[in-house]
Amino acid sequence: MTAPVPAIREQCVIVVGSGLAGLAAASQLVANNVPVRMLETLAKPGGNSIKASSGINGAPTRFQPGPDNRFYDDTIQSAGAAISQEDPDRLLRESLISVLTKSSADAVYWLADEKKVDLSKVAQLGGHSRPRTHRGAGANPPGRSIIGALLSSLESNSRFHLHTNCKVTNIIREADEIKGVGYRCEDGKTDTLLGPVVVTTGGFAGDANGMLAKYRPDLAGFPSTNEPREGSQPLLTAVGARLLDMDRVQVHPTGFVDTSSPSSPVKFLAAEALRGEGGILLLPNGSRFVNETGTREYITNVIRNVASPTDTTSRQWDLDIVLDEGSAAAVGSSIDFYTWKDLLRKETVKDLGPEAISSLQTYSDAASGKTKDPFGRQHFGHWTLKDVTPDSVVYVGKVTPVVHFTMGGVAINERSEVLDKETNQPIRGLWAAGEVTGGIHGDNRLGGSSLLECVVFGRIAGEGAAEFYKENYESEG
Ligand code: FAD
Ligand code: SIN
Repeated sequence: MTAPVPAIREQCVIVVGSGLAGLAAASQLVANNVPVRMLETLAKPGGNSIKASSGINGAPTRFQPGPDNRFYDDTIQSAGAAISQEDPDRLLRESLISVLTKSSADAVYWLADEKKVDLSKVAQLGGHSRPRTHRGAGANPPGRSIIGALLSSLESNSRFHLHTNCKVTNIIREADEIKGVGYRCEDGKTDTLLGPVVVTTGGFAGDANGMLAKYRPDLAGFPSTNEPREGSQPLLTAVGARLLDMDRVQVHPTGFVDTSSPSSPVKFLAAEALRGEGGILLLPNGSRFVNETGTREYITNVIRNVASPTDTTSRQWDLDIVLDEGSAAAVGSSIDFYTWKDLLRKETVKDLGPEAISSLQTYSDAASGKTKDPFGRQHFGHWTLKDVTPDSVVYVGKVTPVVHFTMGGVAINERSEVLDKETNQPIRGLWAAGEVTGGIHGDNRLGGSSLLECVVFGRIAGEGAAEFYKENYESEG
C-alpha cells in the first residue's frame, strides 16, 4: 500500500471533494458534532453539482401534484439489463436502488425544511412515469441553490474546515484499515491528514483523453457537459477498492451548440426540464422523430440512428429544440439565461424547416388531447400552443448529444462503505458517495437521480463515518 508521508495527528473525518455528496456527508458529520476537514482540488467549491439545472428527484412528496409509488419501478426499468437475473450484482443493485428511492422524500424534505432550499416546482423528466424532479421557483438553478445553502450552513459551524486548492494524492491504507490521506496544495506543499475518509470526488465524464478514452474509446471526441477534469477512481483502486460498471457512460441527448463556437468540446446542457415542460426535438427539415420524454439512452440511440451527423467523425449532430411560449414560461428564469447566452432564440415557426408547421400542429393536437401522439408521448408539460401558424412564437436552440455522466465507479454497499475487490467486504474506515461510485443506475441514470444519490448516500456516509470516528478516534483525545 501507499507509503505515508510524516503524519499530523488530526482529530477529524476527512471528506475529499466539495460537490453535493461531500457537502451532504459533511453536514451529517457536523450534525453529530464530529469535526470535518474537506479537501478540494479547485479554488471554488461545488464541483459539477453546482451546475445542476433540472433538479432533484423525490417521491412521494407534498410538492408533487399527485400520488407516486412508481419511483423504484421506474429506476429498475431504466437500469435495464444491469438488473437481469444473470447479473452477479443484481441483489446489490436492487438494495442500492431501494435505499435511493425510499429515502428520496426525506432527502427533498431535508433540503427544503432543514436547509430552506426552495424545491416547490416539480417537472417530469425522461423515463419517469410521474413528475418528481424538484427545483425552485426563483432565478437560481437547483444546483446553485442547494450548494449555496449547504455551504453557508457548514461555514457557520466551527467544526467544519474547507481547504480549497488542495488535491488528495493518495489514501493511506495500513493492513485492513484506512488511516488518512496524503495531499498536495497549490503552493506545492505536501502533507498528510489522519482520520476516517469519505471520498466524494465525482465522475470522469470530463476526462476525455484519460479514463473516458480508456473505458469508452468509442466516445472519444464527443463533446461533454462536464468541465475537463481527471477521473478520481484510481485513488480508491490503489487501496483495493472494487470497480463496477466503468463502461456505462451516459450520453445526454441535448447539449446546446453555441453557434459562436460550434465545435467547442464543452457544451452548456440543454436541461431536460426544457423537454419535460413541453419542448420537442426537430430534424433540420422541421420533422419530429422521437418521444422526447423517453430515457436519455433511448433518445440518444434514436438520434444516432435517424439524424445525420454534422461532421465526418459522427461526434456532433444538428437538431433543434423547440418550445412554445407556455413551455418556456414553465421553465422559468433559466430561459432568460439561455436567450441571453444566445443558446435559445425567440423566433417564429416559419424560421424552422419546411415541415415544421405540420410537425408542430400534430404535436399541439396530441398535447390538447385531440389525437394520440405519433411517437407515443403521453405528457406534454405546459405546451399551450393550439393553432400553429407561420407566425406562432417559439424558442429555438441547436442541440447535439453530449457525454454527461458516468454510471460506473467504486462499488459501495447500502451503508456507503467501499467494497474491497478481493473480498467484496467493506474496507474499514472508507466511505464513498455520489458520482465516484458505481452500480446504482445500471445502464441509464434517470434525470434528477444524481443530486438525489449525492444527498442520500452522502448523508449515509457521513452518519457511518461519524459513528466510526466516535468509536475509534474520539477516545484517543
Ligand atoms: P462533484 O459535484 O463533481 O464534486 C466532486 C468534487 O471533487 C469536485 O469539486 C472536484 O474538484 C473534487 N475532486 C476531485 N478529485 C479530487 C481530489 N483528488 N482531491 C480533492 N478534490 C477532488 N444531476 C441531477 O440529479 N439533476 C440535475 O439537474 C443535474 N444537472 C446537471 C447539469 C450539468 C451541466 C451537469 C454537468 C451535471 C448535472 N447533473 C444533474 C449531474 C450531477 O450534477 C452530478 O452528477 C453530481 O452533482 C455529482 O456530484 P458529486 O458530489 O459526486 O461530484
Ligand atoms: C438535465 O437537466 O437534463 C440534467 C439532469 C440530470 O443530469 O439529472
